[in-house]
Amino acid sequence: MTTPSPPASPPTFLLDGQPVPFTPGQTVMQAAYAAGRYIAHLCWHPDFSAHGSCKLCTVQANGRLATGCTLAAAEGMEVHTQTPELQDKRRTLLQLLFVEGNHFCPSCEKSGNCQLQATAYEAGMLTPHFDHFFPARPVDASHPEVLLDFNRCILCELCVRASRDVDGKHVFALSGRGTQSHLIVNSPTGRLADTDFAASDRAADICPVGVILKKRVGFAVPIGQRRYDAQPASAVDVASPARDNA
Ligand code: SF4
Ligand code: FES
Repeated sequence: MTTPSPPASPPTFLLDGQPVPFTPGQTVMQAAYAAGRYIAHLCWHPDFSAHGSCKLCTVQANGRLATGCTLAAAEGMEVHTQTPELQDKRRTLLQLLFVEGNHFCPSCEKSGNCQLQATAYEAGMLTPHFDHFFPARPVDASHPEVLLDFNRCILCELCVRASRDVDGKHVFALSGRGTQSHLIVNSPTGRLADTDFAASDRAADICPVGVILKKRVGFAVPIGQRRYDAQPASAVDVASPARDNA
């Protein structure tokens, strides 16, 4: 009679010194997330494929820099997320995002519920440091239920992916090149009202910043009870995997 062999344990890598199991094919971000470990991110969402644009998830893996959302996990890999160099780069990336748009948090309805703002707080970003671009993109208030303020867009394409892949509608797209890249609405007029977009769409709840906002519910959550008032971005993210705005 043969003795049954014990179940094989999954391969692991080290995330800031702690082992994280993974399934071959998973990225470092996916495995970390499944294990309840946080790596800063803005354009990654557990329900969608990696986008790789924000670079907030940059880690040091076996001595080299790579984006955790696109890096395949490998047995024994040593991944660091909190070195002084990475923290510094993360703050710089956040500063760049803040000056590219008009992120005037004191007047933004998303303040306190904004992943960009919460990530910047947690990273210790204190000033914008760079000159502001001050984009002047008209607000689209044409839709009866939803308002768009394009000046806060960080080009993560989560709305593009949600509308295309979940809602099957292709309401949003990016247009332009380089610093002129910007979000557009796919309708002959460019207005949201002239699409089949609905407030119940997945795309309506996925924006990590204050671009896609529902009308008539603004500022309804008292200060102190907003998503990031009591807990930092990392704790909220690990506690509520689908951190959409619904
Ligand atoms: S509108 Fe929001 S979800 Fe869409 S690309 Fe801009 S920041 Fe991302
Ligand atoms: S989360 Fe990896 S690049 Fe944005």
